[in-house]
Amino acid sequence: MPVIRILPHPELAPQGTTIEAPAGTSLCEAMLEHGVEIEHACEMSCACTTCHVIVKEGFDSLGEMDESEEDLLDRAWGLTPTSRLSCQAILSNRDVTIEIPKYTINHAREKH
Ligand code: FES
Repeated sequence: MPVIRILPHPELAPQGTTIEAPAGTSLCEAMLEHGVEIEHACEMSCACTTCHVIVKEGFDSLGEMDESEEDLLDRAWGLTPTSRLSCQAILSNRDVTIEIPKYTINHAREKH
């Protein structure tokens, strides 16, 4: 099974963590199943951006991005060239390393 390495995040994974999930699972589902409580305000229907992650390794192994994801990502806090919406990013058989951004648009609105 592919391994997802999650870099340390102050609230969601203070030490960082490593989880395994079968190919075909979205990164968001995999994290939630393993207790990494990433935000998913639209319940994974590709309508919010709060599940934004930055893929540090293995970006090309994830299922392709469709247009609605691309459009939405433009609104994500801290967008990078390897950003994905984790509810739309489907694991293949390769390991990936991801970072959960410090803020989502929800937080950014409150704190900035
Ligand atoms: S949970 Fe809303 S876009 Fe992923």
